[in-house]
Amino acid sequence: MEMFNIAVLGSGRGSNFVALAEYIKTKDLPISIKVVISNIDGAPILRRASEFGINSRCIPHNKFTNRDDHEKEILKELTKYDLDLIVLAGYMRIIGGEFLSTFRNKIINIHPSLLPAFKGLNAQKQAFEYGVKVTGATVHLVTEELDSGSIIDQECVHILGTDSLETLTHKILQVEHTLLPRVVERLAEEKLQNEVNKGEN
Ligand code: GRF
Repeated sequence: MEMFNIAVLGSGRGSNFVALAEYIKTKDLPISIKVVISNIDGAPILRRASEFGINSRCIPHNKFTNRDDHEKEILKELTKYDLDLIVLAGYMRIIGGEFLSTFRNKIINIHPSLLPAFKGLNAQKQAFEYGVKVTGATVHLVTEELDSGSIIDQECVHILGTDSLETLTHKILQVEHTLLPRVVERLAEEKLQNEVNKGEN
């Protein structure tokens, strides 16, 4: 069966990775997570990957003197697989150069705000402190500019008077956990459908 091959990059907890892996498994989707890569030694996402029996690699950025060399090492790993998509799920590094050009339009990121509002770190806190009444989560394409690539999908979260930063962060994360898997599923469907169409012509 034709599979949609993906890699997941993350730096921390890995709850979005778990949500994605569980979604793929439960729905028995033709999506294969080939590898999980982290730039942080001992990041929980690596352990979570092994719990799913998924190949994982730690490539710590602090072992390299510059970003290019670190990314080259990541590229070496990624190019072993015939990848259709790279998912950044809590990957706390800016991606550039050869990495970006090799996988242009194939790298997506999940961000905890309704972009273009509240780019960068602590987006939930930025929204909470600004006092907006609606924020949310965004899945977008990764480009040179931080949190600025084309938006693929978004979902909103209302900020109620009773919310604290903690409850808001939790509500956004819950939304992320359904938004990201649905986007990946849709991208896989589109790609696999295209293959079928090509075969029929
Ligand atoms: C999420 O809030 C995501 O939007 C942001 O980093 C966090 C990662 O969480 N980019 P997790 O590692 O997936 O639990």
